[in-house]
Amino acid sequence: MKKRIGILTSGGDCPGLNATIRGVAKACYEMLGQDNVEIVGISNGYYGLIHNICREMKPEDFSGILTRGGTILGTKRQPFKMMTVIGEDNIDKVKNMKKTYKDQKLDCLLTLGGNGTHKTSKLLSDEGLNVIGLPKTIDNDIYGTDVTFGFHSAVDIATDAIDRLHSTANSHSRILLCEIMGNKAGWLTLYSGISGGADIILIPEIPYDIDKVCQSVIKRTESGKNFSIIAVAEGCFDTAEAKLKKKERAKLRMEAGITTATNRIAAQIQQKTGLEARVCVPGHMLRGGIPSAYDRLLATQFGEYAAQLIRDEKYGMTVAKVDGNITANNLEDIAGKTKFVEPGCQLVTTAKNIGISFGG
Ligand code: F6P
Repeated sequence: MKKRIGILTSGGDCPGLNATIRGVAKACYEMLGQDNVEIVGISNGYYGLIHNICREMKPEDFSGILTRGGTILGTKRQPFKMMTVIGEDNIDKVKNMKKTYKDQKLDCLLTLGGNGTHKTSKLLSDEGLNVIGLPKTIDNDIYGTDVTFGFHSAVDIATDAIDRLHSTANSHSRILLCEIMGNKAGWLTLYSGISGGADIILIPEIPYDIDKVCQSVIKRTESGKNFSIIAVAEGCFDTAEAKLKKKERAKLRMEAGITTATNRIAAQIQQKTGLEARVCVPGHMLRGGIPSAYDRLLATQFGEYAAQLIRDEKYGMTVAKVDGNITANNLEDIAGKTKFVEPGCQLVTTAKNIGISFGG
């Protein structure tokens, strides 16, 4: 049976988006037959769906993109909380998205994105659209999947950054703090911190005590090490801030002229230990460039599985990896939930048992 498939990428980009798009397309053409598949590329995420900015894609559009970073479809942040709000432009976004789906004569819609994207996917599914999600994010915080595509590429990049800080920290006898993306969840900082040999790892799930951080630094100095490396998640906060609501915390930080804690931690370490500290922020470099081999493989597996769901007309789901197997979760079971690092999990224990401090 013929299938007309809409596909969009939404939210922050990451390596592996194109590899996933390619995986879906190749598997659809292969399993359903090229003549039975029409793929419609929707530009810039839900924005393109709202404004009907679409283009017919051809098989050749999916060639040569396995290794390409970013997304050939373009992406945009379209906050979920505003989806049902009619703004100054007077546009009913949900109504428009349903209209585009109908006007484009789509049989289903594939949404590649993170937590926000999945909330909107669930909304559209509830509105009667045939939606299949694919879990993308360098944050690895989508509920119900062991891993998201983009995560391992970012782990490799962050690990490389932390590696490179070692020699310069050593030359200058400094404390080097590497701020790593991850506002809510500390997966990327935890994985790259351990892989890169950081001495201290600070993540949002384990609020830090600055005195304990300084004690760890001093302990290293006393053991004869002339430098320390600290991997800091951009969303981490201290034990005093942990007592506040998110909004109160943000307000206090705004008043103090800071967004992340990293520079503050560096200043406190300098002041309390007398050691020189520097901050490095790889930022969007973590989201750029080619996907790692791991992500190319995962993206291809996820894409192929999405094609199976299309063939079997199983909608209202998102692809996932669970206990090593590719499968799918119901959107209603995962949308709106976040997968956090459990402070008592095996990986945190491993880190602690090799002497890494979490400052908690
Ligand atoms: O969600 C992915 C992510 O890279 C987060 O880790 C980070 O906080 C955020 O996106 C940055 O977003 P933007 O690209 O909009 O600045």
